[in-house]
Amino acid sequence: MRLYCGFMVRRTVAMARLGFRRATRVAGAPQEVLHVFVNNDIKRSHPRYRRWVLRVFGLELLLIFVLAVVAPTVLVPLLATLVAFTAFYAWRARSQWGRARGLPQGSVGVGTRPISDPDHYRNGFAAHGPIFKSNYLDLPMLCVEGIERGTRLFDEHEDQLRPAASPWNRFIPGGLVRWMDGDTHDEYRRILAGALGARLFTAVQPSIDEGIDRSCAAMAEACALDPSGAVQPFPRLIDMVFSIWADVFFGFRHDDQSTAEVLAIYDVISLERQSPDREVRRALDRLEHLIRQQHASAASAVEVRPTLLSEIERRQPDALDRPTTVRNLIYLMESSGNDVAGLLNWVLKHAVDHPEILKELGQGSVDEGPKSLANRMVSETLRLEQSEELARVVRETFTFEDQVLPAKWAVRVRVHESHRDPSIFESPNDYDPNRFLESLTPLEYAPFGVDKRACTGASLTRTIATSFITKVATGYEVVSIADGPREFSKFRHWAPSSEWRTSWTVRSP
Ligand code: HEM
Repeated sequence: MRLYCGFMVRRTVAMARLGFRRATRVAGAPQEVLHVFVNNDIKRSHPRYRRWVLRVFGLELLLIFVLAVVAPTVLVPLLATLVAFTAFYAWRARSQWGRARGLPQGSVGVGTRPISDPDHYRNGFAAHGPIFKSNYLDLPMLCVEGIERGTRLFDEHEDQLRPAASPWNRFIPGGLVRWMDGDTHDEYRRILAGALGARLFTAVQPSIDEGIDRSCAAMAEACALDPSGAVQPFPRLIDMVFSIWADVFFGFRHDDQSTAEVLAIYDVISLERQSPDREVRRALDRLEHLIRQQHASAASAVEVRPTLLSEIERRQPDALDRPTTVRNLIYLMESSGNDVAGLLNWVLKHAVDHPEILKELGQGSVDEGPKSLANRMVSETLRLEQSEELARVVRETFTFEDQVLPAKWAVRVRVHESHRDPSIFESPNDYDPNRFLESLTPLEYAPFGVDKRACTGASLTRTIATSFITKVATGYEVVSIADGPREFSKFRHWAPSSEWRTSWTVRSP
């Protein structure tokens, strides 16, 4: 109880400080208010933040109006304060700000411009060098270029960096593995990595294949029935991945009675939906109940099918009694499901935009190795689209490559820009799966991260992505019917346009 009260007090103080910072920003950076108002990428990706900024701005205008009518003398100091905030932010945004105490160049701005500008990091590295300062919403941020440099930074300053916090952590006692620290991280990582091994993959491959078959067939059927003859792939890919994940993680088969309820609960707990906390907690309790029920009935079945949960239980016998473990699995299904569906969307997009490569895959012998065409297509898509950054926070101030990294600042090692380095990738903006016929080192190509925090789900991701694109290539003719520019999605990744529509027909044998 005392721990809980302590947590709530800390959270309230943190929220109040965040609120104050944002209020001063709204006051001091009216251009940010305009930006969040008109920018569609921010509308999609940060709806809650946008609402907040607009509300505070509205209140400030109201206050000015009321004071102008009832107490004009108070208005003058208020307006002076607003001008002071504006002047402060303009002064802080200078590239030279903090240079005297060793900070790198770059502009610590206010708000969402870095997020909505796809060239922000590339331009920043070109203008200021491999470490420059910027901002992520309220946080001042240091951007680091190069996987090699990032790996060195993490190695040399392991103790002075910590993982960034996840907004889901408040629903997970002990936090999400990805954001755990120290020995606890090592323990949970070891268990999870062990569970995501060959025994699980052999067991779940049929579920993955069935789920892909079902979803591709449904897309072709929907195209035949819809007057436009086309479907938007992404929502269907999300449904496909979540349905497969429910089976792989917990053993909920597609046609089980409780599966529809489980998937509906994911709509409530999803971060994008932003349901009230109380509703999320109720939904989580119900989901845990369904998981326990499913696990008990699977354990008493004649033929026991391994799931991620049962594989974890082999390594951590009291797994089901540990809220940290169960909640981690619940949210891992959520976060990795969205990432994998986003990847499949891009894999499909590039494949459809390069029909000659898709045709080659459809005609080719089924080669399975890491350099198979399907695997190369997935690697190339990860390189171009689905590897963004490795996020840390500075625990205590230190110096790296003659630059000071101050405590509490966010650090982002930009994998995306490193994957477009022309000295490693010839014609880096072209889609060319054949570049992966050559071997690359982990310091050149790292879509799943580096060091002891690298992704434990890389093999599972490749399994589903290669199975999916092989099924598409061998079973269907898929063509683009409508398209638009790429967008920053509600999952906070750049994604193909939501206007993108594809027509699916079953390929004649
Ligand atoms: C498109 C698919 C995916 C991509 C691009 C991806 C990428 C990454 C990256 C870059 C990291 C390292 C983050 C850092 O150092 O800050 C990471 C961590 C992690 N990923 Fe993935 N991931 C994907 C899918 C999955 C899947 C399917 C799972 C599990 C089912 C998974 C589980 C994890 C876990 C548990 C961590 C934290 C590891 C640790 O801290 O020890 N990921 N992922």
